[in-house]
Amino acid sequence: MTAVVDTGTSFEELAGRVDAAARAVADLDGPARAVAEELKDAVEAVHRAGLTTMVRAMKADDAARGVLFELVDDPVVHLLLSLHGIVRPDPVTLAERVLVEVRPQLRSHGGDVSLARISDGVAYVRLEGACNGCSMSSVTLRNLVEEALVAGVPAVTAVEVLPNEPSPTLISVDALFMGPDPEKEGWVRASSTAALLPGTVTPLTVGGADVVVVNVGQQLTAYVNACAHEGLPLDNALLDAGNGTLTCPWHGFCYDATSGECLSAPGAQLEQLPLRVDAGVVWIRTG
Ligand code: FES
Repeated sequence: MTAVVDTGTSFEELAGRVDAAARAVADLDGPARAVAEELKDAVEAVHRAGLTTMVRAMKADDAARGVLFELVDDPVVHLLLSLHGIVRPDPVTLAERVLVEVRPQLRSHGGDVSLARISDGVAYVRLEGACNGCSMSSVTLRNLVEEALVAGVPAVTAVEVLPNEPSPTLISVDALFMGPDPEKEGWVRASSTAALLPGTVTPLTVGGADVVVVNVGQQLTAYVNACAHEGLPLDNALLDAGNGTLTCPWHGFCYDATSGECLSAPGAQLEQLPLRVDAGVVWIRTG
């Protein structure tokens, strides 16, 4: 999603302009570079002092605090405040920065990595290209991606590799099999069908896991309750039963409600869970 500020300039354009200027400064000869960097530092110091004063005042005021929190959700404001150390970069931003560092090494093996989400301290990544499934996969993950993410992102303590193109077909027939003793097989009674009305999104805790069940035209689908963007919950996601889409309330990622495929960001996907209906009881398997 492209965030646009009031000036009509996109976040990407602003960031690109900063990157281009930084590269140009790096190419200057010694004295010129020193002058340019001093100018940058001096201007940044003014901005930092002013921003710190503004943020402190807004934090201290009950009415202004809400506005401040809304502003911090704006990508440009967030970038500005995190550049000045006034807010900490969110884990996803930090992780993306870390992956930028390790990507050249992965590419030297013909591979690549992308971050799907961060949830409960685990960074879920996808390996792409030659790294995926090749003999380098586990070595590459352990030595490069996992080490770098755990070291570089305080909120990340572990890394897991997701399949590259998850889709409902990933839920195998075996996974959907329910024998005479479902609980022994990992199935959990999640709800009654009557409680999951058509056109609703229902957050549930199932076996200790946060799950969201979507009912589109009496077709029930269960997902891990974490948006593929930043792993935030989908409790208040907007379900358009007519179009069959589910829109995350946080930053607007839009999904196919019955497959979990992200329509906003190719390759992103909600994590679908096996779901069965038996005699009016909805069973979900989370493990
Ligand atoms: S968490 Fe950002 S769009 Fe869902």
